[in-house]
Amino acid sequence: MLSRPLSKFSMWFYGAVAAVGLLTVAALTVPDMDGQTRLDLRVLLVVVWAIFVLQLIQAMVVPRAKGAEAGMPVIVIDVLAVLVPLAAFLFVSGGDQSLYCAVWLLKPLRDSIFFRLLGRVVKNEAHNLIGVTTIFGIVLFGAAVAAYVLERDVQPDQFGSIPKAMWWAVVTLSTTGYGDEIPRTIAGRVLAGLVMMSGIGIFGLWAGLLATGFYEEVRRQDFVRNWQLVAAVPLFQTLGSAALVEIVRALRPRIVPAGTIICRQGESGDQMYFIVEGRVSVATPNPVELGAGSFFGEMALITGEPRSATVSAVSEVSLLSLFSVDFQILSSSNPDIADTIRRTALERRGATPKS
Ligand code: CMP
Repeated sequence: MLSRPLSKFSMWFYGAVAAVGLLTVAALTVPDMDGQTRLDLRVLLVVVWAIFVLQLIQAMVVPRAKGAEAGMPVIVIDVLAVLVPLAAFLFVSGGDQSLYCAVWLLKPLRDSIFFRLLGRVVKNEAHNLIGVTTIFGIVLFGAAVAAYVLERDVQPDQFGSIPKAMWWAVVTLSTTGYGDEIPRTIAGRVLAGLVMMSGIGIFGLWAGLLATGFYEEVRRQDFVRNWQLVAAVPLFQTLGSAALVEIVRALRPRIVPAGTIICRQGESGDQMYFIVEGRVSVATPNPVELGAGSFFGEMALITGEPRSATVSAVSEVSLLSLFSVDFQILSSSNPDIADTIRRTALERRGATPKS
């Protein structure tokens, strides 16, 4: 429990240190700086480097936290962050050694969940991305050839060879349009319009592929996490995988801090809750505590009456909530579970279940 905030803190700390280092590298490229300031900035770089040496030692001594992804080049990044500036200091002459500290740009990749997610998305979508990149290459080369044919006689300086025309093609296809090279012939201008429109289409395809990839990857991760949570609820443990899939899709995970009122007596209720972790208190005349594996909020769903009691979190609680509509679907496809929930509701109301 404690290691998560600690590792989060160290992630932000080392990220901030890398940012300080990189800003110092940038500052050192400013000309006309007095000698003392330059010296201070170099000392700051050494301090940053020393911190990264300590981080490298820690990474080698302390094993990676459980659950951290294997295969991430964490150590490689740490080693580069230390060795590249050291090698520059030892072997590079002139005043450019500090530029090598730009290798610290890799540091944010080290712990970032986002970059790992991006890596998985690119891997999953590699096939399609390569396809679109191939189209990009074809259009780029084709545009350069066409521009060379159409413009070489009018503007030999800009379009006198295919490599020269390639620069125009890149700038136009990416719709950047610096305006340093402009087609003069009518046909060249028509070509420019077509290339620009193709560029919009190709970049749109790239963006679409990545967006879909991200969406699917996040959904997959949510599904895996929810699956683990659902599997922890005893009521669902007897279910087959098909029914579990249905429930995983229906349940919404939620973390509630200690002291929060989850539902209030007298309010109408449109969802019930399963406790994955933590404890809640039900404010009945003789207050009851419910823990992991229990559920509550079912009475309002079954009877349609207002909440019979106020329920609050005793500790931080991990919950899975099930909305009324999904409860109806679950009841029809899994009558056993629905029966257990109904029986518990009746018991809680002090009534004897009818057989
Ligand atoms: P609901 O009435 O929807 O909202 C309050 C919830 O508290 C209720 O559903 C039950 O899930 C729960 N609850 C009410 N009375 C008891 C009880 N005696 N023991 C355990 N839980 C209860």
